[in-house]
Amino acid sequence: MNTVEKYKKYVNTSFVKAIEPVVVIKASGSKVTGEDGKVYTDLYAGISVVNAGHCNPEVGEAAKAQIDKLVHCASYVYYAPTVADYAEKIAEVAPGRLQKTFFGNGGAEANECAMRMAKQYTKKQEFIALQGSFHGRSLATLSITGNKGRKKGGGPYMSGVAFHPAPYCYRCPFNMSYPSCDMFCAKYLERTIQYDTSDNVAAFVAETIMGEGGIIVPPKEYFKEIKKILDQYEILLLLDEVQCGFGRSGKLFAIEHYDVEPDIMTMAKGIAAGFPLSACIARPEIADSFRPGDHLSTFGGNPVSCAAGIANLNYMLREKLPEKALEKGKKFMEELRELQKKTPLIGDVRGSGLMVGVELVRDMEKTPAADEAVKIKSMMRERGFLIGLGGTFGNVLRLQPPLVISQEELSSAVTALAACFKELV
Ligand SMILES: Cc1ncc(COP(=O)(O)O)c(C=O)c1O
Repeated sequence: MNTVEKYKKYVNTSFVKAIEPVVVIKASGSKVTGEDGKVYTDLYAGISVVNAGHCNPEVGEAAKAQIDKLVHCASYVYYAPTVADYAEKIAEVAPGRLQKTFFGNGGAEANECAMRMAKQYTKKQEFIALQGSFHGRSLATLSITGNKGRKKGGGPYMSGVAFHPAPYCYRCPFNMSYPSCDMFCAKYLERTIQYDTSDNVAAFVAETIMGEGGIIVPPKEYFKEIKKILDQYEILLLLDEVQCGFGRSGKLFAIEHYDVEPDIMTMAKGIAAGFPLSACIARPEIADSFRPGDHLSTFGGNPVSCAAGIANLNYMLREKLPEKALEKGKKFMEELRELQKKTPLIGDVRGSGLMVGVELVRDMEKTPAADEAVKIKSMMRERGFLIGLGGTFGNVLRLQPPLVISQEELSSAVTALAACFKELV
């Protein structure tokens, strides 16, 4: 049996059927090699994970050295040096007073931790989340996910969650335009609190930049307006930087674009260059709302993942990957906007750093072009480029390459996209 046949028989996936996945055998930097020897330029980075590049040698060396010393010890039962060291490093670079980290294994686990911590600290039970958001596949994180596509079949979900309209300017829920809207979607939060909650809200949860929802970048004033209202109602700001964090947006953390201090922040994906690790960081007084025995994860804070994480962060900072991502992303989006002028199917090009979305629409009414997006993804693969799809309607091309990708590779991706659009017409 080959890999595909074994997957079909033995591996429980919910692969989207439209395009048969590539069988990946190795990867390096921005390149992925398939079983058939075909080499792809990766514009998806394993869903925005290998920001420091596939099989980053420095990360690999650190992990190998740690494997020879200690692989597992249960880092919440015993102390492990790499766990303490990585937590210290994260505290040094995290915004504001964020200081104490709980390590888990994935994004959903970090968000679960954050939700519980918010409840225990505030002694309140409700959450406000954004329409179109995605926070994970566990029951609590699906409960705060604002997308029926992700939730269908899994309900009923947790009560006490209100959904607030997202700052999705291209499809403004209030039919307004930025900046004349004067941040109405942020100011509207008072109404959500007033009409959709029982005034018992622990936290407002948001991805600083939405990923799965189609790369939604809030205007620069957004989080300041939101925070003003949250402070008035003593509601915590819980930011999910699982996808937009770790250099992806052109800053180490996306919230640095907004000059606002979150109370709790979660991260995963890019924090250990592909080794499973997530983190939930909070101000000490919030973190300390966990009493002895409250929270634990058997594999959380794995010493090897933390060693990899330290090497990953050192590499990112030394090589200035966030700054470079900002520059490369600007140029990339300029080229994509040039392509947009000649391509009616491209409704919007948006993003921050190397977190870029290209929204496809059929007409002036912005009818989502989801089938076309699937075709473009497939055609790009034929041409040797791996891309992602997202958006509430599945019509957004997600371009989130390893941050080490070259400008030339990005330009050749735009050329390939142009050829795909031409072929599609
Ligand atoms: C913003 C965000 N939060 C949480 C998650 C869940 O992370 P994981 O799949 O590691 O549980 C994701 C995954 O895509 C995500 O994009």
